[in-house]
Formats: sequence, structure tokens, C-alpha cells
Amino acid sequence: MIYLDNAATSYPKPDKVYDEMDRCLREYCANPGRGGHEMSIISGKAVMEAREIISRLFGIDNPLQLCFTKNATEALNLGIKGVLKPGDHVITTCMEHNSVIRALKALEKDMGIEVTIIRGNEYGEIDPQDVAKGIKGNSKLIICTLSSNVNGIIMPVKEIGYLSREKELIFLIDASQGAGTLELDVKDMNADMLAFPGHKGLMGPQGTGALYVREGIEIKPLMQGGTGSNSESAFQPDFMPDMMESGTLNTPGIIGLKCGVEFINSMGLENIRIYKHMLVERLHSGIASIKGARLYNKRGIDENSGIVAMNFNGLESTRVSQILDREYDIATRAGLHCAPLAHQTLGTLKEGVVRFSVSCFNSIDDIDNAVNALREISGKYAID
Ligand SMILES: Cc1ncc(COP(=O)(O)O)c(C=O)c1O
Repeated sequence: MIYLDNAATSYPKPDKVYDEMDRCLREYCANPGRGGHEMSIISGKAVMEAREIISRLFGIDNPLQLCFTKNATEALNLGIKGVLKPGDHVITTCMEHNSVIRALKALEKDMGIEVTIIRGNEYGEIDPQDVAKGIKGNSKLIICTLSSNVNGIIMPVKEIGYLSREKELIFLIDASQGAGTLELDVKDMNADMLAFPGHKGLMGPQGTGALYVREGIEIKPLMQGGTGSNSESAFQPDFMPDMMESGTLNTPGIIGLKCGVEFINSMGLENIRIYKHMLVERLHSGIASIKGARLYNKRGIDENSGIVAMNFNGLESTRVSQILDREYDIATRAGLHCAPLAHQTLGTLKEGVVRFSVSCFNSIDDIDNAVNALREISGKYAID
């Protein structure tokens, strides 16, 4: 199997992720922060180490400001619903995933928040000045994806963060695409909150994600329950990360995520970025040379986090993806990618796109095989 669906979830994981999760489950997976016995202390320490290592990757000074979640969707919902109140105005972009758009639409309907969506050009690139123009007296929050999950376009988060800080708004970055590939420092980006999954570019297992919340941001948890702290109180602790981490954590998953980030550190972010870019360039130019192929992504290293989005004239994206899977053993994703506004922007709301998303584990042969398969499909179905 040639796996080119890394934007959905990365595969394979580094060996250390498999090995250490197995060791954790067999040797030290007690309940972290819930007991005074040795195993609980060991698992608690391992979770804390994970918090520290992940925080360092994003320039987060205080690892206790990072709470673990089960995915990026949970992290985004915690961030969005935790800070907004009725009457607040939110600015976001046309390239957001449904885990942002649907959360906002639900609040718009149920709580009377206002939402402004900044439109982009045909690739979804937005002008930060349009964000500035959207700011109003009741604006509270700006949400922007680091990179689109449909076509990989990299958004101007640094410029938006600067604007947001100037206007004293809260800035939430969705780093679901790009974390583990792009340099990302919360201070540098003026990010007040950062949501990310552990199971994509950070190379951890599914069931992991996290939300960083800057000290001083007023945020409410969405759930209450056991935290292992302040057990004498009937009320939820009001400090991070405990206030956001009710219930037993996904200890083996978090340990796996830690190992994923250690792997990224050992490879070097910049090396991963350059390698993935080389694969994207090769795939993009290969597809561009095929009859009847249309491309929807930019290919520059500063314009793409690792995705090639394409269609064939006259052949449904789901059919192309199915042929790639059944006849060539190549895994891609087709159709709509949980981001309808992004598809609207790219002009692919009806047909979706075939998405190829690379990881540092893909080889040049993987890319060449994918291009050859697409060339054969083009020939076989007489696409023009
Ligand atoms: C940009 C973006 N945001 C949010 C998500 C949701 O991530 P998760 O599946 O970890 O909840 C995804 C997943 O594909 C994504 O690409």
C-alpha cells in the first residue's frame, strides 16, 4: 500500500511510537495524577514530560498551559466555546474545517454570536487587511487555520496574529495541517490559543490532540469531573491544565505522541519541510503533465504544507480515488473534505477533489507510482 492520506491521519508512525506505547501499556500505564503509588507517579511523570516536549516544539513557555484532548476537533471546540459569550463577534476564514465552522454556526444559532467569514482568492489565500477590515466593537476572537486541509495553502497567521494582538482580540490557530512540518512559535505568531491533533503531522496515535491557552485568557471548560486535584471541592479547578482535563487521560496515546514529537525533533522540522516539499513539487509537476488533470494547490515551499489536490475532467473524484485504491493500492481521499467553504472557494463544491497528502515516510517511488497510475487512468478513460 502506498499511503498518501497523511492529512487525514499519518501512517506509518515512527517505530518508537509503536514500541513505547506497547511498553507503556505493559509496564507503567497506571492512572496519571490519580494515585500515590509508584506506577501512577511514573505515568504522571511521563505525561508531564510529553507536555514539556510538545510545548517546546511550539515555543510554549509554560507546559501547564497545554491540555490534552482526544483530537483537534475537541481542542477547537474547547477553545471556541470556552471563550465566547452571547453577542460576541468572531472572524474566521473561508478555508476552515467544519470543526471550526460547525462549532461557530451552532453558537450563532444557539447563543447569538456573530460570525464574519473572510473570503480568499481561487486558492483560498486571504488578505490580512480584509481581516483588519472585519474587526468591530464586539469582536472577540479570530480563528485561522495554519494550512488548508483541502489544498495545503499556508495562511498568513503571523500577520493575523499581529493584528489580533494590536486590537486585543483572542487569536486561535488551528494547526491541524502543518503542525510537525511548519515552524510554529505561539509567541512569534501572537497565538493566544493553539489547537492541534496528535495523530497527523505530529506522528502520534489517533485519540490524541491538545489545546494551548495563553496565561491570562479567560476560558471555561466544557466538561466537569475528576481531575485528581482539589478532590475536596465540589467545583471544577480553575487552573490549567486540570480545569480542561476531566477524566482519565489517554496515557498510552500521549506517550505515543511524545515519541512522535521526539522523532520530529530528531529529523528536524526544516528537513521534514524540505523533504515533503520536494515530494509535493514532484507530484504536482507530474500531475500537471497528465492530460485532463486539473490542480487546485500552489506548490511553493511557503505556500503548501504537503497536499496536492486534483481532479480529472469528466471523472468523479471518488471514482479516481477508488481506482487508485483497488487497482494500484494507493490510498488517497476524495470528495468533500469537511471544509465546504474551502471547496466553494476552489470551485469544487460539487465534485470535491482527489487529495494526495504526503509525509516524511513517503518515498520518491511512491510519488512516481502515483503519477504513473494517474497517467494510466487518464489514458484508460480517454480523459481530455
Ligand atoms: C484543518 C483541520 N482542522 C481540524 C481537523 C479535525 O481534526 P481531528 O480529526 O483530529 O479532530 C482537521 C482534520 O482533518 C483538519 O484538517
